[in-house]
Amino acid sequence: MNQDALKKMVGQEAVKYIHDGMVVGLGTGSTVKYLVEALGKKVKKDKIHIVGVPTSHRTAERARRLGIKIKNINDVDHIDLTIDGADQIDRNFQGIKGGGIAHLIEKIVAINSKKNIWIVDESKMTKYLGSFPLPLEVIPYGSTQLFRRLAKMDFHPTFRMNGDQHVLTHSNNYIIDLHLGKIKHPHKLSRKLDDMTGIVEHGLFLDIVNMVIVGYDNGPKTIKA
Ligand code: A5P
Repeated sequence: MNQDALKKMVGQEAVKYIHDGMVVGLGTGSTVKYLVEALGKKVKKDKIHIVGVPTSHRTAERARRLGIKIKNINDVDHIDLTIDGADQIDRNFQGIKGGGIAHLIEKIVAINSKKNIWIVDESKMTKYLGSFPLPLEVIPYGSTQLFRRLAKMDFHPTFRMNGDQHVLTHSNNYIIDLHLGKIKHPHKLSRKLDDMTGIVEHGLFLDIVNMVIVGYDNGPKTIKA
């Protein structure tokens, strides 16, 4: 089965955890696309009432188009469950997110959710985080100085660019990716990055996920974190 088919499989599987009356955080990315499609079908077929809290304009547009009611996070009093993709998940269920530039919004939605489920194909499961570049959302002002500090710390930063233009996040910030190879102590690194002025949010999602649905050739596997 190719990667896209595995993403579709877990997207469809995750919809089973969404029930009538729930407020559901909807993540971002090519795996979540399949979740939103399956949820749109379920809402129509079973006539259930769901409120979706999207983590990006892309997800919001897709959900709306498929007939899923959407609300801003400030207009709901709780989120029952958030389902999102991930770029990498280690053996302790710590994750890297932000490959699709949405990790700031995704983290805000995730920490405000009673439960978090990640849906991934098997290629995302690794022993250590870090072979996937770690995204940082940074304030444009002074970002070149921040970049130099990160380089001095041996974090091998690169600005995420589109040609000669900086890629902009939903909040009009820049993205710096750190090429770390292997992150042995994610909590230590997280604290270091939290302390650096100019970084709005990093893509380490630690102690956040409750359950992971992994797509394998022989079917989806649900793992409690
Ligand atoms: C968006 O910024 C990311 O955190 C995505 O959730 C992550 O990149 C997974 O995306 P795919 O499902 O497209 O691999």
